[in-house]
Amino acid sequence: MTEITRDVVIIGAGASGLTAATDLKARGLSVAVLEARDRVGGRLWTDTIEGAMLEIGGQWVSPDQTALIETLENLKLDTFSRYREGESIYIGRDGKHTRYSGDRFPVDAETAAEMDRLIVILDELAESVGATEPWAHPRAQELDSITWQAWLEENTDNIEARDNIGLFVAEAMLTKPRHAFSALQAILMAASAGSFSNLVDEDFILDKRVIGGLQQVPLRLAENLGDDVFLNQPVRRLEYTDDSVTAIADGITVKAQYAIMAVPPNLYSRVDYQPPLPRLKHQMHQHMSLGLVIKVHAVYETPFWREDGLSGTVFSPYQLVHEAYDNTNHEDPRGTLVGFVSDQHADKVFMQDAEARKAAILDSLAAYYGEKAQNPVVYYESDWGSEEWTRGAYATSFDMGGLARYGAMQSTPVGPIYWSSSDLAAEGFQHVDGAIRVGHDTAQAIIARHESK
Ligand code: FDA
Repeated sequence: MTEITRDVVIIGAGASGLTAATDLKARGLSVAVLEARDRVGGRLWTDTIEGAMLEIGGQWVSPDQTALIETLENLKLDTFSRYREGESIYIGRDGKHTRYSGDRFPVDAETAAEMDRLIVILDELAESVGATEPWAHPRAQELDSITWQAWLEENTDNIEARDNIGLFVAEAMLTKPRHAFSALQAILMAASAGSFSNLVDEDFILDKRVIGGLQQVPLRLAENLGDDVFLNQPVRRLEYTDDSVTAIADGITVKAQYAIMAVPPNLYSRVDYQPPLPRLKHQMHQHMSLGLVIKVHAVYETPFWREDGLSGTVFSPYQLVHEAYDNTNHEDPRGTLVGFVSDQHADKVFMQDAEARKAAILDSLAAYYGEKAQNPVVYYESDWGSEEWTRGAYATSFDMGGLARYGAMQSTPVGPIYWSSSDLAAEGFQHVDGAIRVGHDTAQAIIARHESK
């Protein structure tokens, strides 16, 4: 067992941990980043599967994600726009397949009016609640006591409006069933993206990708940190006093003044803390869980849908694949579709064998794009639920009542132990932008404490 001494030990080499480590090192503090996997990046992972470069984890960048955009500029990484020429497809409650343009689903006039009305209410709520301290809002308790589904039912009788508005947060973002999280949690999701209207606008949310893949962010940050990053080192135990901490991983022990747990909050309890964490932290961590979504990649000889005047963008709360997009790589002659199967739908297809699951998912893609979608040359399912060091996708959120009850203390350090994750972010919550923001903030908090000593 190697033993080293550093000012700060960072547990987890995702975007958040590596950002914090970079800032700390730039300010003259020594760091060691301990990563459980044999690679850096965590939920950012680009791999080549049967000759196709696939972004298995996070990939999109939106214009409001200024912390991520600044990092991309600093690392000299270029972006390209998602293909979006042509019409989109919507499959309605009646099973009708409709082509449409713009960012409003082609529903009947009454449903469209209801959707618009709900969006106005949710924009107002997102603005008033905000992303920074949703738990401090006068209506926090009330909004955290009602499920997203019940809130929608309370606010409209129109089932299709409810299903569509529900989708933008449930299937598309938190990847949990609508009855499993609160209206307050849904409003935080919207506020963190700037507004509910932004969530509805896929051209905004899914604007750009990085040429060569978003995992280059952690790869380059780690490269700059050099020998300070240690792979294959799952941290099993943190022994701490008020001003010192020892991180014990499988092959290395790091003695430090501060630690940053830069892992998703659902994994906090995998580490043995000595002494145990305060009881409220123990409680809180049991109320933070990861959603579940299958990101499906289907690569075709050509982007055949484009010839048909289609953008590749499709939506339906009534399909197994609730949304899909043209995800063709930069300057790639082949065409790639990426689709998503969320929460209970993912549970259901994971009970099938791989062939039956693939058939069900391709049938759903074919319902949108036609029979040609049945024959990809490469087919791959990102299965984050079985990844030991993540355990779901995309990110962690509180269960019912948890945000109002515990949110105010989610980032409070325990002695020398700090918490850094996209899933604790205000702006950029559950996104790479948030991971980077929290990484900067955590480093800043440690630097301030260190300098005041
Ligand atoms: P992250 O989970 O990335 O890193 C934590 C690290 O800690 C991991 O490397 C893990 O191995 C390590 N670790 C865990 N336990 C450990 C232990 N005990 N000891 C040592 N190491 C340990 N975002 C976005 O902005 N745009 C998008 O398009 C998407 N899409 C998307 C798709 C999919 C399929 C996923 C899974 C996620 C996204 N996201 C996304 C979300 C985005 O990827 C995510 O929010 C950030 O990458 C999280 O970065 P963090 O550093 O906070 O955690």
